[in-house]
Amino acid sequence: MKLTEKEERMLKGDMGRGVQCAMEVLVKMGELYGAEEFVEVKNAHIDAAAYTTIWDAGTEFVEFLVENGARVAVPTTINPMSVDRRNWRNLGTSEEFAAKCDRLENAYMKLGVNPTWTCAPYQCTNVPMFGESVAWSESNAVDYVNSVVGARTERLPDLVDVCCAVAGRVPKYGRYLDENRKGELLFELEGFDDVWFQDNVDYAVLGYLAGEIAINRVPVIKGLPQRTTQDNLKSFSAAAASGGAVSLFHVVGITPEAPTLEAAFQGTTDYETIKITPDRMREMRRRLNTGDKEQVDMVLTGCPHLSVDEIGQIAKEIEGKKVCEGTDFWIQTSHPIYELAKIAGYVDVLEAAGAVLVRDSCLMEMEYNGMWTGKHFVTNSGKAAQYAPAINSVKITMADLKGCVKAAVTGKVPEEV
Ligand code: F3S
Repeated sequence: MKLTEKEERMLKGDMGRGVQCAMEVLVKMGELYGAEEFVEVKNAHIDAAAYTTIWDAGTEFVEFLVENGARVAVPTTINPMSVDRRNWRNLGTSEEFAAKCDRLENAYMKLGVNPTWTCAPYQCTNVPMFGESVAWSESNAVDYVNSVVGARTERLPDLVDVCCAVAGRVPKYGRYLDENRKGELLFELEGFDDVWFQDNVDYAVLGYLAGEIAINRVPVIKGLPQRTTQDNLKSFSAAAASGGAVSLFHVVGITPEAPTLEAAFQGTTDYETIKITPDRMREMRRRLNTGDKEQVDMVLTGCPHLSVDEIGQIAKEIEGKKVCEGTDFWIQTSHPIYELAKIAGYVDVLEAAGAVLVRDSCLMEMEYNGMWTGKHFVTNSGKAAQYAPAINSVKITMADLKGCVKAAVTGKVPEEV
């Protein structure tokens, strides 16, 4: 790789062993991907936040950087940790595990990250600008920031993201390059009336389907309604990055790099076209639904973390009702969004109904202690439909937001799933 004078000094150790180590990792990675140079980034988002993803070895690596003088070089946000610090005892986390999470949290605070602990930083405090280079990990956030914002990042591995935050740069490869941002296959929606795409769950199912087919190619979606919201695209992003490994997509007439079909494909015409019909969506949803009983043990929302508007919609739906005994209703979000929801009065409504607001964490990042094994979850999230069975050995039924609330209140699978 061609390094600037400053990068040479960083690599030589002039700025401390911590920065030197980060640069050693990044140069090796750059060479691996054939990058010719680094690109400076405006901000970073770290995925390596959960103890269950980086364990003791990862914790020691972050501590090593701190002890050797490294600090983040750019504003840096961070993904959910493995505990809800305010409520971990009630959520089944052990003392020993909580202490491990504390240790990791302390290391990150010393490194200088902003304690956002959210997988939707783009709805919290980290909103990049169109076209700027950033260094993000967390698959839904990468997909969203590339596609919906039009900033540029690769899907960076855990701990490499930390190195990028410390170095303030990333090898220039993959999605940082214009030629790797063009559409590669077209999904054309056909036969959908206005009843469709009113709720996040349709975007989640479509995202999952697109991800399964595209794998790591760049899908272009044609035919989504103009009323599509950021929250809808958040659901799509997360599902597409879980059903496959999508890190960039375009929605014609909606996302910034796709004002037209031609722009989405950068003028190329030799792409494959796949028709998506209501039947194909129903079939995808049937495959995600592995639930085989009427009784619901858990309703899980907030994968990715909910926005204040989404929390408001749940509060409106559940106001005056009670969560059924024997069913848990989790609403996952970050503490900044929780504070907004509190001011808006939503938190009081939800807590009066018996819902649990989980802050700064998520079930899939928590201690793997078998407490959910064999349980039946209802969710509106395509990512949870992929991860919760794989990580927590649960069965899934997908539902829209109203269906989720109904399942929480009745303890049963809602009729329309
Ligand atoms: Fe976020 Fe956890 Fe889902 S990190 S995207 S809530 S698996």
